[in-house]
Amino acid sequence: MKRTVMVVLLGATALVASWLYSCQGTALPKHPQGAQVYLQQQTDSLILYLYKLSLAVQQKKPLPELRERFAVCRRLYKGIEPLVEYYFQGLVRRINGPALPDVKPEDGQVWPPHGLQVIEQYLYGGDAGAVAALSNEIKLLQTDLRFVKANMPHHTISPAHLHELVQHQLIRMAALGISGADAPLSQLSMWEAAYSLQGLQRLLASQQMASPPSLQGAIQYLLADTAFDRFDRMAFLRQHLIPISRALDTALTFSPGVDTLMRPPFKGTLAELLQGKGFDADAYAAYAVAASNPAKVALGKQLFADRALSANNSISCASCHQPSLYFTDGRPQATNLVHGGHLLRNTPSLYYAALQSHQFWDLRSTTLEDQINEVMRNGQEFGLPAAVTARRLMARPGYAALFKQAFPASDSIGSFEVRNAIAAYVRSLSPMASPFDRYMAGDTAAMGQQQVQGFNLFMGKAKCGTCHFVPLFNGNLPPWFTKSESEIIGVPLSIRWQAAQIDADEGRYRINRMDDLLYAFKTPTVRNAAKTAPYMHNGVYASLEQVVDFYQRGGGSGIGIELPTQTLPFDSLQLTAADKKALIAFMESLTDPPPQY
Ligand code: HEC
Ligand code: HEC
Repeated sequence: MKRTVMVVLLGATALVASWLYSCQGTALPKHPQGAQVYLQQQTDSLILYLYKLSLAVQQKKPLPELRERFAVCRRLYKGIEPLVEYYFQGLVRRINGPALPDVKPEDGQVWPPHGLQVIEQYLYGGDAGAVAALSNEIKLLQTDLRFVKANMPHHTISPAHLHELVQHQLIRMAALGISGADAPLSQLSMWEAAYSLQGLQRLLASQQMASPPSLQGAIQYLLADTAFDRFDRMAFLRQHLIPISRALDTALTFSPGVDTLMRPPFKGTLAELLQGKGFDADAYAAYAVAASNPAKVALGKQLFADRALSANNSISCASCHQPSLYFTDGRPQATNLVHGGHLLRNTPSLYYAALQSHQFWDLRSTTLEDQINEVMRNGQEFGLPAAVTARRLMARPGYAALFKQAFPASDSIGSFEVRNAIAAYVRSLSPMASPFDRYMAGDTAAMGQQQVQGFNLFMGKAKCGTCHFVPLFNGNLPPWFTKSESEIIGVPLSIRWQAAQIDADEGRYRINRMDDLLYAFKTPTVRNAAKTAPYMHNGVYASLEQVVDFYQRGGGSGIGIELPTQTLPFDSLQLTAADKKALIAFMESLTDPPPQY
């Protein structure tokens, strides 16, 4: 992309934006239709530029020209992204989803990927000559965009929506944009972040609302150095995106209480998100009555460590999820088959386990109440159905009063109450109290220079942040946080750096016999990783150094495993020794205080 053209384009909107901002205070009339008109016009331009791209493809224009045209399309999309992503959640995967098959285990379907990232793959992955296929991709995208255009007028852009979708866009920029997650090959992510901010300026202008001047400062910062590997993401977040998030929160005030039919797992601004605020673990529970209260949490904590939960009084949850080891057991694999699983696996930490849409390495369970049921029934584990456990507990001194306090509205105490109390305890285990969290909250002494450098690598050159999303650093997809993702990275059976063999555990394939799920495992959180060795579903790696080496080599396929479905990029990472040290130092900054027991 020609730099001068881009700067001129971005500069022109800046003028309009700052003019609008200077008019602030004169109580500008709000134009609810403004954003609708903006979306229609911008989508028309995008469809037109896609047509121009398609023509250039057919005329076999040189690759740099094709890429330049593609960059214009991406820029136009960034302008409408906040609206499209908010109102067309079912469709966006086809517009700007990853260039990987969309696997729907619910109905046994696999949808081939479509959209901008597929086009990117053609243009940057060496297939630009595939004229028919590429033209077809472009045509499909145009069709989807026409659908957006035709259906957008059916949505009312309420002030509450506008407030939320603007923050969503900032969150998307932080987690999926500057990390390169949605432009993995072109690496035009810094340019695109500038387009995103410019899009927000124009969206607000269309509503006759002023943008805070900090937006323009951020755009300039982004354009000052667009090199993907060098970009200082931490500085950008702290000095630009977080202040913008606060300024827009104030600018777009609305009276809350509208549109809250669904209980969202996260509600808040980017600034709040990066301080670990705004999560609601109860949103992942299946029923409203499952909501936590302090008495439930206290009871659950007691039950968690009570061996009376097992038939022969021999084990409790804490036998494997040991509080002193950050709720792990320090073993490669647990000594028992647990939670209804069929294979021995590594015991995951329960810190942040509640902030996931699904539980277990193979994502086989949706709620904590559910998975606790499995442990309790299973003969190899506790060996007592929860209903029997409930009767047993009620016969013991003290518990009746505790249950009464925790469940004042329940007539009798049964399976649900026992499971729900333990789940409430697990839901209380997301402390967000690591040095990283303190740093994001403004305590710049909390992290050292090397750790900040490590964060920048994690979010950039090392690509970790494209799967372990900031700030939970697990696979729970921002900004909605309603879908925990799995990936195929090729974890080996044993430590070998050449001619390795894949671990026999089939992962999600065991649950849904779909080829695209073979060896797929949940992306676990990296929070507290420094305290939860050994690593991976089979505990194959004893140290973070080994984990980083695995990624450095390109995952399973880099150590000799034949794995064409691997979703981790195949290429080696080119991390220097200092890079690796910094990455590990960053992961160490994600250590919370140990659990109190
Ligand atoms: C014998 C050891 C053992 C016992 C006892 C045990 N767990 Fe687990 N837990 C595991 C292992 C191993 C896994 C991973 C299993 C898998 O993914 O297939 C796991 C997974 C979990 C998960 C999913 C976390 C995630 O991130 O996916 C939760 C939550 C959990 N256990 C809670 C509990 C609770 C609550 C109890 C007591 C009712 C309990 N566990 C008892 C070993 C144990
Ligand atoms: C393609 C997505 C993807 C990328 C990119 C990625 N990871 Fe992972 N990560 C995963 C998955 C999936 C697992 C679990 C795999 C398994 O156990 O089979 C995992 C596991 C881990 C674990 C082990 C956690 C535990 O509790 O066992 C650590 C640590 C980790 N990753 C760090 C990193 C770092 C550092 C990077 C960047 C160098 C990175 N990851 C890049 C998907 C990814």
